[in-house]
Amino acid sequence: MKTKFRSKQTIKIADFLLDIGLSEGQLKHVLREINIQMEEGQKNLDASEAARVRQYLNEKRRREALKRQTIQLPSIIKVQDLAKRLELSVGEILSILLKNGVMANLNDDIDYDTAAIIANDLGYNTEEDVAALEKDLLTPEKLDEILKKEDPQEQKDRPPVVTIMGHVDHGKTTLLDTIRSANVAAGEAGGITQAISGYQVEHKGKMITFIDTPGHETFMFMRKRGASLADVAILVVAADDGVKPQTKEAIEHAKAAGVPIIVALNKMDKPGVNVDLVKTQLAELGLQPEDWGGKTVIVPISALKKQGIDELLEMVILTNDLTPTKAIYDRPALGSVIESRLDKAVGPLATILVHTGTLKVGDYVTLGRSAGRIRRLLDFHGKPIKEALPSMPVAVIGLDSVPQAGDILQAVEEQAEARTKAAARRAPVKRLGKEDENDERKTLALVIKSDSQGSLEAIEQTIRAMVPSAVRLSIIRSEVGSVSDSDVLTAKAAGAIIYAFNTKVAGMSSKLAMKEHVPVKVFDVIYRLSEDVRQEIEERLPVDIVRENLGRLKIIKVFFSTPKKKIVGGEVAEGTIEVNAQVIIRRKDPAGGPAEEIGHGKIIELQRERQAITHAQQGDQVGLTIEGKGKIKPGDVLEIYKEEKVRRVIT
Ligand code: GTP
Ligand code: MG
Repeated sequence: MKTKFRSKQTIKIADFLLDIGLSEGQLKHVLREINIQMEEGQKNLDASEAARVRQYLNEKRRREALKRQTIQLPSIIKVQDLAKRLELSVGEILSILLKNGVMANLNDDIDYDTAAIIANDLGYNTEEDVAALEKDLLTPEKLDEILKKEDPQEQKDRPPVVTIMGHVDHGKTTLLDTIRSANVAAGEAGGITQAISGYQVEHKGKMITFIDTPGHETFMFMRKRGASLADVAILVVAADDGVKPQTKEAIEHAKAAGVPIIVALNKMDKPGVNVDLVKTQLAELGLQPEDWGGKTVIVPISALKKQGIDELLEMVILTNDLTPTKAIYDRPALGSVIESRLDKAVGPLATILVHTGTLKVGDYVTLGRSAGRIRRLLDFHGKPIKEALPSMPVAVIGLDSVPQAGDILQAVEEQAEARTKAAARRAPVKRLGKEDENDERKTLALVIKSDSQGSLEAIEQTIRAMVPSAVRLSIIRSEVGSVSDSDVLTAKAAGAIIYAFNTKVAGMSSKLAMKEHVPVKVFDVIYRLSEDVRQEIEERLPVDIVRENLGRLKIIKVFFSTPKKKIVGGEVAEGTIEVNAQVIIRRKDPAGGPAEEIGHGKIIELQRERQAITHAQQGDQVGLTIEGKGKIKPGDVLEIYKEEKVRRVIT
């Protein structure tokens, strides 16, 4: 016969304890953790309850074991992914982050350092897994590798890309301008044309691309990563000045990048130039002139008088003919950012040099941390074009943010890919360094947004120069672009002020800032901005407390005395006393030593002949109410003084 109720299986607690190796106290603790009630004197445990205890212990041991391992964390990880890795809820991670001063949400990226702090806190050892990020990040090295591995069968010639290098004032800009004006039909130079830092010229039916690099920086940046933007370097050396430090530097860069050098010996129109001397100097640096039996082409020119320019272009073509530059035209484009800025009219604007493939209007692209869909392409005349071929400098419009010079542009299949790739590289939420507890300085925390890299640098420099050592300056973020939600949240977490220079605050972000009480200050004149910063600094300067001695009062009678309040009567022995002044209570040493300080306080009421007064002078008999510590006795003397807080100012 079947029983209706299955008899409940139970286990003797004593046996169970032996089995799981816990003491009774420990078991009770576990039971409490998993919400199982145990009665006083209970001898048995339900089998199902015992199973839950076992499960809990296993889980706990598994976690402990996990913590003893070293876990690999990527350079950047999303909060929710970190939660998964550490087997915690997102909420738990967020609250640990908050404790460390980082405001984040589940989709935010945090950097390795921040993730490691959390993991270490929880007992994990961590290691940074750099390879994970590199996988989808197209670095200049990788770009170089990709370009080298292109199938020569599919490649066609592309124009050589020329960069002009040389010492200050040797005539780089003049040469670039001369070549441009002599060979490029003047276009309607609009604001945007000026943003395109490169152009192409035709010489005897062949195209040459000149990149007007903003200094050596981009070039150096690429070079450091083993790649080069240029195929040929024109080294401008003023014939009247010869080889100078930057000439040497330029030679080193070009050599290291494996870029052939053509020397443009400039300013030949000047009287008294010594060509042989310069050639000797060049030869000493390994650039043996051709006419001396070496390999270095030296073209005498005058950039100013427009002499020798054709010969120079001819030499570029000849040099390129020796090792023709090639690329595949029919493939998604790869390029590099030569220059970028936030344009008031069109938004993020970048000049791209296309290395391979064809960049088309409508393409989805990623460039470093930026992404977007190409809305417009402009050639160096500022003229809209449908596509940009290899070696073409082109301005792109339609990016979601301003990329950085040196970023690699990659055309991708679809929007989703562009977005995720860019997001993977997006600036992670920065760790807000814990403040040194012994450091009593106040912090001026700033988020700076600006319209261009140039103004950003100028602002940062100005601010850094202004902040005295008595204030801790913390620039949490400094970026080109408009003020976004992320800026507001970052500023909020850091208690920072947002300064926006020549740039907008997105409508929603401005509301968010208001809601979160984050100050956002918008300026369009650097001087005004720095004046505002000055005020913020002064508010954070330490206050000096200046003490002014007022007078002394001798206590005649004590009417009332509690540990916190006393009412006394006395006579002003010296100087004046006033309401709100500070007092030190002193008592004479009967043995004749110095008067001892027995307490201190503040005068909160003053009376003479039962009338409230604010001041009293020497000789006045007054009654006073004092708030403060110390038991007053007749005969004690009150030293009366005022303290004034004086804030320092920056001079
Ligand atoms: P930075 O950008 O400051 O490094 O200088 P740069 O190399 O671009 O030199 P830039 O073209 O500004 O020329 C510097 C000065 O040299 C200017 O005053 C030019 O007019 C002058 N200059 C340039 N080329 C020639 C030339 O062929 N002959 C003469 N006489 N002067 C020249
Ligand atoms: Mg110049």
